[in-house]
Amino acid sequence: MDKLIITGGARLSGELRISGAKNAALPILAATLLSHSPVTVGNVPHLHDITTTLELLGRMGVHLLVDERMNIEIDSSKISSFVAPYELVKTMRASILVLGPLLARFGEAHVSLPGGCAIGTRPVDIHLNGLIKMGAEITLENGFIHAKAKRLKGCRLVLEQVTVTGTENLLMAAVLAEGTTIMENAAKEPEVSDLAHFLNKMGAKITGIGTDVLVIEGVEKLGEESIHYNIMPDRIETGTYLCAAAITGGKVKLKNTRPDILDAVLDKLIEAGADIQTGEDWISLDMHGKRPKAVSLRTAPYPAFPTDMQAQFIAMNTVADGVGVVIETIFENRFMHVNELQRMGADIRLESNTAICTGTKKLTGAPVMATDLRASASLVIAALIAEGDTLVDRIYHIDRGYDHIEEKLTQLGATIRRVPN
Ligand code: UD1
Repeated sequence: MDKLIITGGARLSGELRISGAKNAALPILAATLLSHSPVTVGNVPHLHDITTTLELLGRMGVHLLVDERMNIEIDSSKISSFVAPYELVKTMRASILVLGPLLARFGEAHVSLPGGCAIGTRPVDIHLNGLIKMGAEITLENGFIHAKAKRLKGCRLVLEQVTVTGTENLLMAAVLAEGTTIMENAAKEPEVSDLAHFLNKMGAKITGIGTDVLVIEGVEKLGEESIHYNIMPDRIETGTYLCAAAITGGKVKLKNTRPDILDAVLDKLIEAGADIQTGEDWISLDMHGKRPKAVSLRTAPYPAFPTDMQAQFIAMNTVADGVGVVIETIFENRFMHVNELQRMGADIRLESNTAICTGTKKLTGAPVMATDLRASASLVIAALIAEGDTLVDRIYHIDRGYDHIEEKLTQLGATIRRVPN
């Protein structure tokens, strides 16, 4: 297993291009299963989770053509299997995203149950209950979800809780259903909107995009013609590099991104003392060499502060001036980075879903272990300011979601290298 060694102390500066959004690319790749004609998807990030998705599609008989710029041509006209096997689902929970499209188009899907994961129980009951309400027959057997339906029927769905992949799965099911589906309490995350725009480009009839009520008029067929679609920029990757620059007192400009979907994050960075400037597709941050001020925040569904940025802000609070209180409301066990940050000298107290962090002037490098994707990013961020070397182990988590992280950080002046085990 590869490790990263980071020598702290460099003030980040320079420019960077942000990659396509992982959390938009995954549902969009799954949605290509709905198309009768080949589809080309561009701005796909170079990530392990994307490779896993392509492997999953490939095993179903989907024909894939990837060029050197990660434009992917996907032809799902000749599917031979409707199975998402355990060995792939266990490495990536988002594999569940093939359930809705397989069932809607082929009337059949067999998807391994994702099971527990590092950041909580993360059930899929809302996905399944929605499909059942649309007429699917679902059985759970031998660790698999077996779903069958002749043609799904449009209906009114009121989601019990805001769920991103749940909304996406049901959206992909509803586009081919007979009649109209009205989905209330739908997730409003920009990645859900990106998927909806992609589906509409293939011929779906979705309105209410960007709101919590999606209205989907079912159509008989999608993808009569080939289309090309570019994935939106990754707002979490953007936020992560902004935090990395902020903790080092640095100055960076991030290009190919979207400030309009990062309001909650940018507001907190401004509160931390950052000078933020934005254009249509860029964001710059300048700390003018200053130490960040501690910020308090509460995670919640979009447009509030994203849970996927919580760990990175805790890392920033560890060396900030003051006390920051961070409340996690989405996942029940998403503070595994706290123990590791404490090993680097952070002063953090955990009280159920709240992390109270008193900034110290200094962190020290230590061997630390990545436990999930965003926790790993927080350890890398902390390492950038720590005295000496930090060795981050189990970085396969980072490779799942950060495109060329060591190259990008090196470009900004960090001292970071990957060492094979
Ligand atoms: C997605 C994102 C992940 C992000 C999360 C929250 C992808 C691939 N992943 O994950 O990066 O951290 O949104 O923004 O897009 N829940 C249920 N029953 C369900 C579904 C969800 O109880 O059937 C609960 C979950 O346990 C959690 C909450 O709903 O407490 C939100 O989870 P959800 O939005 O579904 O997260 P994911 O879609 O898995």
